[in-house]
Amino acid sequence: MSWRIKSLDAILETAEHKALTRSLGAWQLTLLGVGAVIGTGIFVLTSEATQFAGPAMMISFMLAALVCGLAALCYSEIASMVPVSGSAYTYTYAVMGELLAWMVGWALILEYAVAAGAVSVGWSGYFVGQLRGWFGIELPYALVNGPYANGLLNLPAMFIALAVTSLLILGTRESARVNAILVVIKVTALTAFIVLALPVMRMENFAPFAPMGAAGVSTAAASIFFAYVGFDAVSTAAEETINPQRNVPIGLIGSRGICTIFYLLVAAGAIGSPIGAQPVTDALGNWISPGSPELYTRCQQLSVLGQEPLACSKEALAHVMRQMGHLNFGNLIGLAAFLALPSVILVMLFGQTRIFFVMSRDGLLPEKLSSIHPKWKTPHIITIITGAAVMLTSAFLPVGELAAISNAGTLFAFLMVSISVLVLRRTQPGRKRPFRTPLVWLVAPMAAAGCIYLYLSLPLRAMLVLPIWGGIGLVVYFLYGFRKSHVALGHVEVQEGNADIPPQPVPPMPGAPTPGGKDA
Ligand code: ALA
Repeated sequence: MSWRIKSLDAILETAEHKALTRSLGAWQLTLLGVGAVIGTGIFVLTSEATQFAGPAMMISFMLAALVCGLAALCYSEIASMVPVSGSAYTYTYAVMGELLAWMVGWALILEYAVAAGAVSVGWSGYFVGQLRGWFGIELPYALVNGPYANGLLNLPAMFIALAVTSLLILGTRESARVNAILVVIKVTALTAFIVLALPVMRMENFAPFAPMGAAGVSTAAASIFFAYVGFDAVSTAAEETINPQRNVPIGLIGSRGICTIFYLLVAAGAIGSPIGAQPVTDALGNWISPGSPELYTRCQQLSVLGQEPLACSKEALAHVMRQMGHLNFGNLIGLAAFLALPSVILVMLFGQTRIFFVMSRDGLLPEKLSSIHPKWKTPHIITIITGAAVMLTSAFLPVGELAAISNAGTLFAFLMVSISVLVLRRTQPGRKRPFRTPLVWLVAPMAAAGCIYLYLSLPLRAMLVLPIWGGIGLVVYFLYGFRKSHVALGHVEVQEGNADIPPQPVPPMPGAPTPGGKDA
């Protein structure tokens, strides 16, 4: 019974009755995608990728981009068929039934909330670097590092998570312009990095190319996959898009393509810089795992000797620039990350509340959780709960581990979408598909296989979080959603006005202009 499926027509009808203003065009969607995607992955995790793979991280960037690209093609077909909020969760509901949809929604919580934590920790590194770089201020080590680095907690990470949560609670209506400005800042910073770093690349730094072998390349790909996470925020905005059939695929594929090109050029520039990109080893030449106390201890030893390898830096790109002799420009890159990373946290936290929202709209979560604040018109309760969880995780966990956990949730959701697209081709061949995934019988299985491959390449701890989190999700589902879902209660097929759950407006997307347009 828990395989019950919410029909596509019912989903589309629900969406029609509770529709949001359609105000986003292809360009805005692409900007939204780039805004959500460029962040901690390239600005911070480049260090971690270096430690896993050395210069071969270039291949890792390509592998991650390939899997993401294949998944984006599958996403596009379903997003154009079912242009409603809720992304992978909604699609799975329509195709594979409630139980799997719940599991996907539950995994997306992992994706968005933990990603917000990871980006908060990434921001913290740049914040500390900014204070040091511009003002020479050194914050107490124990307050800017968690126990994983022999510290106490990461206070700046908690602070930024709190600040962004508060912003979301107060409403983010005016953020379309801010988002556009921040995207410009990020893209300018990366472009300037490339322009300064590429012409002076030291080709000898590319050897040894893959000091940690193929396994290192795979692990780095599974980690750096985080740099591409967030493009599905575009499909989440389908309900707010003008002509979603055309614009969602453009937004998804366009933003991913732009990011991939930037990442590859930036990675090449970092590898070719004076500090290179070889992994850090202990005094005996043994490799050390990223995010471990051993690596932090080793980095401290090296720093006493006046060396700071890329793998030790918490502000990778700024560090590379400074090592190239561009001190102020390094600080400016840091400033760009400092200013722009909070917008990624915002999109992630927003995505999280949006998923909660749609799940409670379907009765799988208590409606009270997503009740709207009378004055601010935002789902304050769920935002506060999410914000508190993000603060806690970012206080105590390293950025790489948070990113890997988030990746596990994302890969599961992508896997489900890749399967869904095939199932729909079989079960509903006649339905209109404004965007058809090219060579779907090749692309979708390759996307699914790629997701499984990256998942299996994750560090063990991150890999284990998904089944544990999934187990908790199952318990919650059978205690609540199984009995209360609107499909179970038979509410779905009735007209909206007859349902005993009052229609709830979904709050606007960050980046979306104020409601009031034509298509409510
Ligand atoms: N892709 C986003 C980032 O790298 C989540 O920060």
